[in-house]
Amino acid sequence: MSNTFDRRQFLKNTTLTLTGTALPITMVELAFAKSSDNFNFAYISDSHIQQIKGNNFVRNWDRGLLRAVAETNLLTPKPDFIIFGGDLAQMGSKPELDHGAEMLSKLHGKVYHVMGEHDYYLDLGEYWSKLFGKHYYSFDHKGVHFVVLNSIITYDDWTFNKWPTAQQRMAEMAGLDNPNGSPFMVGDKQRDWLKKDLAKVKKDTPVIVFSHSPLQKIYKGWNFWTEDAEAVQALLAPFDKVTVFYGHVHQIQYNQIGNIAFTSAMATAWPWPYPQAYAQAQQLLPKLTVQMNRADPFFERDATGWQFIDVATGRASVNYNLYNNATRTVAFDAQEGHPKDSGYQAVEKRIPPQTHY
Ligand SMILES: [Fe+2]
Ligand SMILES: [Fe+2]
Repeated sequence: MSNTFDRRQFLKNTTLTLTGTALPITMVELAFAKSSDNFNFAYISDSHIQQIKGNNFVRNWDRGLLRAVAETNLLTPKPDFIIFGGDLAQMGSKPELDHGAEMLSKLHGKVYHVMGEHDYYLDLGEYWSKLFGKHYYSFDHKGVHFVVLNSIITYDDWTFNKWPTAQQRMAEMAGLDNPNGSPFMVGDKQRDWLKKDLAKVKKDTPVIVFSHSPLQKIYKGWNFWTEDAEAVQALLAPFDKVTVFYGHVHQIQYNQIGNIAFTSAMATAWPWPYPQAYAQAQQLLPKLTVQMNRADPFFERDATGWQFIDVATGRASVNYNLYNNATRTVAFDAQEGHPKDSGYQAVEKRIPPQTHY
């Protein structure tokens, strides 16, 4: 943890915690040489608000988001803004998006939104746009260039020609291991935009990119994957310090590809297992990533949680707080040139998974 960040002070007013120690949000502090430029922001992701019928929504997912909103509002210092990392809704419907938006409207501060596939594939983001604005955009904040991408689009033929109804299209994209699904991508149009956007940015300006899917290839069957990841990475390559934050995977992952550090966020709704615990197909979980322990796979609140990220040198130090598990810090190691788990990177120091009977 950086000296610039006092967690105790930071959390002193966050007394609304339901389990006492963990908040299902991401708290980010960006600290630079000039202390006046330090700032932080909150990052909430993957709430999957799901309508059962009428005003009945899946309570557990509601609670996850409500909790994140309440605790974000109690943070000290107050975050400069909040990022919502996508998959606000489960099936992309108006009632789900409205219900999610209403909960998010209680946040004190500006919210920047990232598109998730669960928000998109019913009406291709039309209603989401009415609520939240553009699907991809950039902004500058206190010396950092932020880019938000919509990384979950796919081939036009799949989107426009394959499905008799929008509901079926949404349902097909919502499933894991669905052979009827289609790989995510950023796409030509958005990459052209990104190229122009980045042309205005100095190479030593820290660049922080938010996408919903990882801008790297981990496991295709679950779309822990972006088809044109290498092409996006190539656009980011000229910059000295690039960090990509992503949701979608509902688990801790981190990686380093060239100059780009990658870190994922946990969901407020539920954790996904790691691909190799389940998948028969090849998967490419980054070798750097030490998996988070799931103490009880039948307790879905376990392995949800929060993290704050300190970018003291323009590089991220990510502090993951898991419910019912030890806090983990994954910090960029300048000497080794990649994110490193300060507690568990060494094999002998890792927490062994519990045995279940
Ligand atoms: Fe998700
Ligand atoms: Fe997703």
